[in-house]
Amino acid sequence: GTRFLEIVQSQFPGVIKILISDRPNLEEAVYAFNNAGLDRYIAKPWEVEDLKFTVTSLLRQAAMRRTNERLLVDLQKRNTELREALRELKEAKQEVENSYLSAIQSLAVALEAKDRYTAGHSQRVSRFAMMIARGLNLPGAEVRTLGQIGLLHDIGKIGMDEQVLNKPGKLSREEFEMVKQHPVIGAQILAPVRSLEGHISGIKHHHESWEGTGYPDGLKGEAIPLPARIICVADSFDAMTSTRPYRIGRTVEEAILEMRRCAMMQFDSRCVEAFITILQREVKAEALSQPRAATG
Ligand SMILES: [Fe+2]
Repeated sequence: GTRFLEIVQSQFPGVIKILISDRPNLEEAVYAFNNAGLDRYIAKPWEVEDLKFTVTSLLRQAAMRRTNERLLVDLQKRNTELREALRELKEAKQEVENSYLSAIQSLAVALEAKDRYTAGHSQRVSRFAMMIARGLNLPGAEVRTLGQIGLLHDIGKIGMDEQVLNKPGKLSREEFEMVKQHPVIGAQILAPVRSLEGHISGIKHHHESWEGTGYPDGLKGEAIPLPARIICVADSFDAMTSTRPYRIGRTVEEAILEMRRCAMMQFDSRCVEAFITILQREVKAEALSQPRAATG
């Protein structure tokens, strides 16, 4: 009997197997359970009703097992489909994000083109901000982020009146109120791009002042996010050293004096000193690389 069950088990593992024995033998039963996939061992004498009940319940169990297996296969299939759909969704999201990102980059270029006097300003702020970040020993990823923030810091000016933005004289109160909106508008433009999440506070607060007299939120000291403090120094340095139609840019030495004078009022002096150290090193390196006049 056991041998026969073993053969059935190897050929049709799903078939229900009941062993009815007239010489009850525990060893035989254990062997059949372990090696022949036996479902029930019934020793004589047996009742017809009992046997019927056993067969019915085993059939029900087998049916349930088959249903479960079907459900499991179905579940696995749905899982695979879901994973695939999720991957497609992620790709689509990335695509939307990429196209939004390139739109923002075009805006940055358009902003530069709006005003020939400030052309190159964002690039320079980006370079100075990275110099300061390196001087503060920030990790590489943060240095790169600061470079991007520098490029985008004034993006909120894109919709503003050029006449006002480039006005040489003092702005009226209304005009100044309008210009003051640009950090907030910039933050709103970047808000939908998840990969620019870390850039927003640096843009929104780049006109805050260390003493708390800046805008838009009048944040004070270390409450101003570090990227914003860095951009503020880089931005001001470029404004000081650039020549505009209404004034000649200061020399690096003059700008250094001015930044030191404004440290702890307008700027984080840690950022200022980190920047000055690097600027002075660059000025020295440049002087050394200049060819000297021949003496004779
Ligand atoms: Fe700005």
